[in-house]
Amino acid sequence: MTVQTVNTTPIDGQKPGTSGLRKKTRVFMEPGFLENFVQSIFDAIGGGQGKTFVIGGDGRYFNAEAIQTILKMAAANGAARVIVGQGGLLSTPAASHLIRLNNADGGFILSASHNPGGLDEDFGLKFNGANGGPAPEKLTDEMFANTKSISSYKVLEAGDVDLGQLGESQLGDMRVTVVDPVSDYEALMASIFDFEAISALFASGFRMRFDAMHAVTGPYAKAILEGRLGARAGSVVNAVPLPDFGGGHPDPNPIWAKDLMAEMMSTDASDFGAASDGDGDRNMIVGKGAYVTPSDSLAVLAANAHLVPAYKGGLAGVARSMPTSAAVDRVAKAKGLESFETPTGWKFFGNLLDAGRITLCGEESAGTGSDHVREKDGLWAVLMWLNILAVRKASVAEIMTDHWSRFGRDYYSRLDFEAVPSDQANALMSDLIAALDALPGTAANGQTVSAADQFAYSDPVDGSLSEGQGLRLWFESDARAVLRLSGTGTQGATIRLYIETYVDDAASLALDTADVLAPVRNAVFEIAKFQHHIGRTTPDVVT
Ligand code: G1P
Ligand code: ZN
Repeated sequence: MTVQTVNTTPIDGQKPGTSGLRKKTRVFMEPGFLENFVQSIFDAIGGGQGKTFVIGGDGRYFNAEAIQTILKMAAANGAARVIVGQGGLLSTPAASHLIRLNNADGGFILSASHNPGGLDEDFGLKFNGANGGPAPEKLTDEMFANTKSISSYKVLEAGDVDLGQLGESQLGDMRVTVVDPVSDYEALMASIFDFEAISALFASGFRMRFDAMHAVTGPYAKAILEGRLGARAGSVVNAVPLPDFGGGHPDPNPIWAKDLMAEMMSTDASDFGAASDGDGDRNMIVGKGAYVTPSDSLAVLAANAHLVPAYKGGLAGVARSMPTSAAVDRVAKAKGLESFETPTGWKFFGNLLDAGRITLCGEESAGTGSDHVREKDGLWAVLMWLNILAVRKASVAEIMTDHWSRFGRDYYSRLDFEAVPSDQANALMSDLIAALDALPGTAANGQTVSAADQFAYSDPVDGSLSEGQGLRLWFESDARAVLRLSGTGTQGATIRLYIETYVDDAASLALDTADVLAPVRNAVFEIAKFQHHIGRTTPDVVT
């Protein structure tokens, strides 16, 4: 087996975003594209010599082929050892855990998260560091710079590694360990939760439905929920990971998980419903007739975390991404906890977690997590809810009603305008930025703006500054709107509009969300001139 140095030329457009590099699968399959990016990663981290890496992905189309390439490149770059999930599978949180558990130097995670998979859909790759979390911006900038100057990459000329077989093998001088994707993760979950209490809940006849959306959490949920905790057989549906996720969007929200929603809103609903995304880091929580927004879920978990063994000593602090509703801030205030507002993207939680400033964190986009790994964790969030339900012996709906009566309710919704021509989306944003200082006092649709700014974040741990992280508009009616452009879309631009309104009078806690938010929503359409800039006010997706 010889190391080959292959001459190459830079390929455009390899700028990794908040979640690594995402492109159409065919782009990743172009000769040299994946190789250039992987070599740029090795060069950015100071080479692979003597290092240990974790590799795995969500099983989407091209997952297995890409892993073989990365293995051969890791060997050629001098890596000592690679730990890879059997069949090339690892959920993102499980990969994060394996990096930490094995004191690895980092990991390659192959996924485009909740984006559809297939030859004509999306693929992605990201690098996580030794703490198990996504590479910080400094490093991804360096990777990007390398992709623009790269002239060669290294690859071992060798046959493929058998990823189906558990155990050790050699690839040149590099040791390859194929591990069961589930077992170490399952052990971690058992160390956090009261598995006895959850088992007793299932034994009492409690019914749940977990929709794995034909994605990576299928094997994890089967093993843990059905195998270990005794949920009845068939509780986990769509449990076999497929390269195209069965043709769907593996995105756990009421739009894409509509079968689950339909069941949970029916007369024969299970007691508890949940779903996770392509790579297993997102979650959706729904009770009988009661959908829980991710922002509310984070707040409920913060309020009840002390009921879960790993958090019984209390929380160090909490954090939410800026567009996430203020619900968790209210819990933090009541409990005297420090709370942080960070830019969108999980990597911003990493420093706070590493420094022990926070224990729980979450995003409105169905991501919730804690200091047990450095990624959001879908199944962990589901187990948090199960543990809380088991202890409180109340339904999801009862827990929500009780929560709102204590803290008030933040009605919340996100509106996505997808595939907007980039120049139009940029014009909408830049016009609004130009008008920002003059907005306070402006009234539209009966709503008066009280303040407006562009969100900038100064990291309390390392002092780094992230500017231009979205526009915030506050209204006199105790409402807030946020506008930002997506960093993960693969087609044109996606404008995200987030709206929330706070109420705390008992009579207003069970209203229709869309009705409550309509006045502010329409005010924002007017103020930001949606019709003028993009020719529409109808979003593609509302969650
Ligand atoms: C989206 C979500 C964001 C999440 C990211 C990665 O990013 O909004 O919360 O961290 O996916 O899962 P966006 O497309 O908005 O930039
Ligand atoms: Zn994901």
